[in-house]
Amino acid sequence: MFITFEGSDGSGKTTQVQLLAEYLRQAGRSVLKTREPGGTRISDGVRQLLLDLAHTEMHARAETLLFNAARAQLVAEVIRPALAEGTVVLCDRFADSTLAYQGYGHQQEIAEMARMIEYATGGLRPDLTVFLDLPPWEGLRRNRSQGNGKWNRLDAQELSFHQRVVAGYRKLIAREPQRWVEIDASQPREQVHQDVVRAVEKRLAVFAPAP
Ligand SMILES: Nc1ncnc2c1ncn2[C@@H]1O[C@H](COP(=O)(O)OP(=O)(O)O)[C@@H](O)[C@H]1O
Ligand SMILES: [Mg+2]
Repeated sequence: MFITFEGSDGSGKTTQVQLLAEYLRQAGRSVLKTREPGGTRISDGVRQLLLDLAHTEMHARAETLLFNAARAQLVAEVIRPALAEGTVVLCDRFADSTLAYQGYGHQQEIAEMARMIEYATGGLRPDLTVFLDLPPWEGLRRNRSQGNGKWNRLDAQELSFHQRVVAGYRKLIAREPQRWVEIDASQPREQVHQDVVRAVEKRLAVFAPAP
């Protein structure tokens, strides 16, 4: 089963992927945790290009292609082989991020982007996508208050961009409500985790019943 986590920066995706991986391993599941952009040697190289604050001249189309290049490698090298072995794959961001950020955020043609994603993934889609719902300014505040060097080129966009991203996520959820679960990410992390577990257990019972 393939589970992805989406939401604005600072909404708690990395935290919740880690907590869910621990939970599922405790429950005896084989789990693979990965993230976008990254997760392979080649994809991590692309990640460096994407996040570099010095790359102020990066064109939106180049950015979209780089995300999809990283994604194509991750799907082929890591995600598909793991799924084939029955491993539960948890991915911190996936194709919906491209639609939300490069599509709705940068206002590029959504149908074109969807075709590019189809090409990059070979049609692989998540079985469940967890949307961690948090106002974008709250996530930015969480990350900034950490002062842990997490600030990167993609964070450094103006607030109106982040608001378009959240509105974009809402459209993606409305288009495919059965794939998504929305969770109130303003709750304490343990409560968010409980909500995530409930949603995942429900879906696992359908897609991959415990042996
Ligand atoms: N439920 C929560 N409440 C308050 N702070 C949180 C919560 N979940 C995560 N954080 C903190 O907020 C920051 C962003 O969390 P992170 O998991 O890195 O988010 P993301 O991966 O979505 O950017 C981190 O410093 C993390 O410790
Ligand atoms: Mg993160």
